[in-house]
Amino acid sequence: MSIHTPRIEKRVTVNTIATMKQHKEPITMVTAYDALFAHLFDGEVEMILVGDSLNMSFLGKSDTLSATMDQMIYHTQAVCNGAKLPLIVFDMPFGSYVTREVALNNAVRVYSETDAQAIKIEGGAERAPLVRHLTRHGIAVVAHIGLMPQSVRAEGGYRIVGKDEADIERLKHDALALQEAGAFAMVLEGMKTEAARRITEALTIPTIGIGAGNVTDGQVLVWSDMFGFFETFKPKFVKRYLNGADLIREALGQYCDDVKNRAFPDDKHSY
Ligand code: KIV
Repeated sequence: MSIHTPRIEKRVTVNTIATMKQHKEPITMVTAYDALFAHLFDGEVEMILVGDSLNMSFLGKSDTLSATMDQMIYHTQAVCNGAKLPLIVFDMPFGSYVTREVALNNAVRVYSETDAQAIKIEGGAERAPLVRHLTRHGIAVVAHIGLMPQSVRAEGGYRIVGKDEADIERLKHDALALQEAGAFAMVLEGMKTEAARRITEALTIPTIGIGAGNVTDGQVLVWSDMFGFFETFKPKFVKRYLNGADLIREALGQYCDDVKNRAFPDDKHSY
């Protein structure tokens, strides 16, 4: 029997994350969508994101845009039931923060219906007034800049950013405006490493990278990507830590063989 010692023993808060940046201690974050896997991640990672990526990996849609508040709330409740120590972040779905009023109403709903400690919002400097409105009303906000999956239909695809000096300056301007508006952390997605490095150096709040190189204060991966369950496509930045789909197929094959051969259930598994 393996005796597993969790890496984290105390509840992670926004203060823990801020201190980790000061101490240059890398922050680990993964997505989770249910209690079962959230429980496996509990005590291991500092942060869990209930990402709207669940619309693709779990609902089978081709992008994240049709995820709803109701769906995200349901999955966040499940994650909060499964994990007690990580800082759990609710990913605000497309359309849930179109105005300051809509955003605040939905954020209040997140706090009253789930135990998530923070919400995440995609967008650059144009979202700074909205982020300020939320933080002034006691909502902890993670900003998300760079490649923004909720813009995929408007942009006509997923595009890596920060490729030239002007774009790096634009991203830095976005990042500083969002920090100034009160965001306590920032996801940097799909950008050249040099852009992520310059933004991370410019900010006092932690950056969490995904497809942004090894220069951010932390890293986030979608769990079904990193454990090899999502097979539709694999972005370059995803490292597979497990061949989950192969392992499941192999085990399922054994179960089917056992049932067909009447080897299961045997006496050990019968009353
Ligand atoms: O929805 C999600 O999983 C995300 C990550 C890609 C950061 O937003």
